[in-house]
This record gives sequence, C-alpha cells and structure tokens, in this order.
Amino acid sequence: METHQLSPGLNVCRVLNGMWQVAGGHGYIEPKKAVSEMVKYHEAGFTSWDLADIYGPAEDFIGDFRRKLAEEKGEQELKNVQAFTKFVPEPARMSRSFVEQSIDRSRKKMGVQSIDLVQFHWWDYGNVSWLDALLFLSELRDKGMVRNVGLTNFDTAHMQDMADAGVRIASNQVQYSIIDQRPAVKMAEFCRKNNSVIYAYGTVCGGLLSEKYLNREEPSIAELDTQSLRKYKKMIDAWGGWKLFQELLAALKGVADGHGVSIANVAARYVMDRPAVAGVIIGARLGLAEHREDNARVFGLELDDEDRKKIEGATAKSRDLYASIGDCGDEYR
Ligand SMILES: NC(=O)c1ccc[n+]([C@@H]2O[C@H](COP(=O)([O-])OP(=O)(O)OC[C@H]3O[C@@H](n4cnc5c(N)ncnc54)[C@H](OP(=O)(O)O)[C@@H]3O)[C@@H](O)[C@H]2O)c1
Repeated sequence: METHQLSPGLNVCRVLNGMWQVAGGHGYIEPKKAVSEMVKYHEAGFTSWDLADIYGPAEDFIGDFRRKLAEEKGEQELKNVQAFTKFVPEPARMSRSFVEQSIDRSRKKMGVQSIDLVQFHWWDYGNVSWLDALLFLSELRDKGMVRNVGLTNFDTAHMQDMADAGVRIASNQVQYSIIDQRPAVKMAEFCRKNNSVIYAYGTVCGGLLSEKYLNREEPSIAELDTQSLRKYKKMIDAWGGWKLFQELLAALKGVADGHGVSIANVAARYVMDRPAVAGVIIGARLGLAEHREDNARVFGLELDDEDRKKIEGATAKSRDLYASIGDCGDEYR
C-alpha cells in the first residue's frame, strides 16, 4: 500500500474508501454487514475512510467499526485507522458554538477525540459566512478537536482568499478523473504552492471506467442503478458523449492489458500520478459489492509516457469542461 503523510503522524492510504454509497441511492446497505465488511477493508490495508456528516449513517458506521476493531484486535489497532469527515452546513450565519457543536456531534458518532480531517463544503459563495466557519474550524484544530482542516468542492479563487486571510488548509476534495481534469487547470498548481493537497473523487466514474461498460450500448439514465453512475454519465455526456467514451475505454483497455491490470486501475493510477494528488477516493457499496483485490493492483502499477499518450489520444478530442462548467466545485453552485 502507498501512503501519504497528511500531517505529522497521520499517514493516509492513497486509495481511500468512500462512504457516500451508504447514504442511499446505491442499493440497501445492511448496517451489521457493512461494519463487518469495513474490517475486511482494514485487514486488506485499505485503512482510510472518507465520509460526511450528510452521508446518512456513515459517521455511526465509523464508530461501530472502531468498536468492533478494538474488540477483535485490541485498542492499539485504532491508531491504524484514518477517517475523514465533512462539515456541510446550510449556508447561513456561522457562530462559534454552532460549528463547535456540529464537530462535537461528528466526533461522538465516530468515537474519536480528534477528527483526522474535517472537509468543509459551502453551497453559496454569495453568503460570505464561509470564512467565519473556517476560522472557527481552525480554532477547533488549535484546540485539538480536529487534526486538519480541509475543504471540498472549493474553487481556486476562494482558496486564494483563504490563503490571503491566513487560513491554513490541508486539502481540497474535488472531482478528478480522466474525464474531468478541471483540477489540472489551476487547482493543482495552487495546492503545490500553498502546501495543500487534492483528494480526488469520481476517479472510476461510479464504475463506468471499467470493462463492464466497454463495447456496451449507451445506457439510459434509468438503466444506471446508482446515483454515482448517473452523476458521472452526465459528466461523460458533457465531456464528449458515449462514442468518444468508448474510444477512451478501448485505449484504457489496451494500456491495462499491457500491464495485466484493469481499466479501473489505469483510471485511478492516472489521477494518482498527477501533481498535488495525495489520494483517490473509491466508493464502496459495503456488503453489496467489493473490488479490494482489483483496486490493490493500483499500487504496483507504473504508467509510462506511451501509456499516457494512448489515453490522451482520446481525451484530446473531448470538450473543455473547465470552459463549460468552471473551476472545481462549480457544478454544485
Ligand atoms: N465531496 C463530494 O462532493 C463528493 C462527491 C462524490 C463522491 N465523493 C466521495 O468519493 C467517494 C467515491 O464516490 P464516487 O461517486 O466518486 O464513486 P466512484 O469511486 O467513482 O465509483 C464507485 C463505484 O465504482 C465501482 N468500482 C470500484 N472499484 C472498481 C473496480 N476496481 N472495477 C470496477 N468497478 C469498480 C463500484 O461499483 P459497484 O459497487 O457497482 O461494483 C463502486 O461502487 C464517495 O463515496 C465519497 O466519499 C465526494
């Protein structure tokens, strides 16, 4: 397993397990089964989790998982778990007590003294209280309730405003895949210069970037049975459509076969190798489906210039998503 050190003593697996999939819209997740499955991820070396206060039972699952792990392997094993949550408030006036109570609720559910990383999301830049929220989160970090303050879905201009205000930001979690390479336009360079990193989601496009969809007729939105698949199918439509996507899948298959790995492995590795990317978050439908053995092959995979040339032969024909959507996170606003 490859790890990235986010802050002193906090080593994060570069393939994180994403927990949006437990929040609904991805099939029924049975809680007990899900928590048992989390132990299997941990045992396989996938020790880092990405969740949010708005992902249904995800924070409770982390609490249950930690208790189960401590029972089965002893308390000392808990130091090998990394769990990131998000703070996603309604865009309203932010007070110190509201922010502290929100983070305290997440801490209690997750069963931790200090949250490894809290990633802040803000729906409406027109409401400038986002800076207050970040200042209060920074205070909580200084008090030890939070180890790192990060963001999700913020654009480069607002990160510059934070830097100007002296707010220390550890990371920004954004959509980043072979399809959606908007973070490469400005965000990556900003992060490099400002000692911040990117956590990428959507890297395997809900599973569309896999053999399952190679040489397949274009699925209708109704045929796609998870919210994640539907989200990224729309992104593919905006990017260049199904015909070009098939061209990309064929190129990825050629690269994958050359290395004895899967299309999903190549898609994940391509993003992991990009500047400022600390890790990719791959969603897990706990207890319903798993790809641990396959995803572990990402770590041994080394792409060369020839591989990248084959991939970029297809992506060069796509539309410019930065021009049509905007910078990171603009799809949410
Ligand atoms: N900050 C945000 O706004 C935001 C937004 C979206 C996601 N996220 C985070 O990112 C995580 C990832 O979610 P996502 O929606 O971007 O999903 P994703 O990781 O692009 O897709 C996950 C799906 O891909 C399939 N998959 C995984 N590994 C595979 C492999 N090796 N071969 C073939 N298929 C494979 C699985 O489908 P099956 O289960 O059907 O097999 C899995 O459910 C979320 O859980 C969340 O933590 C954050």
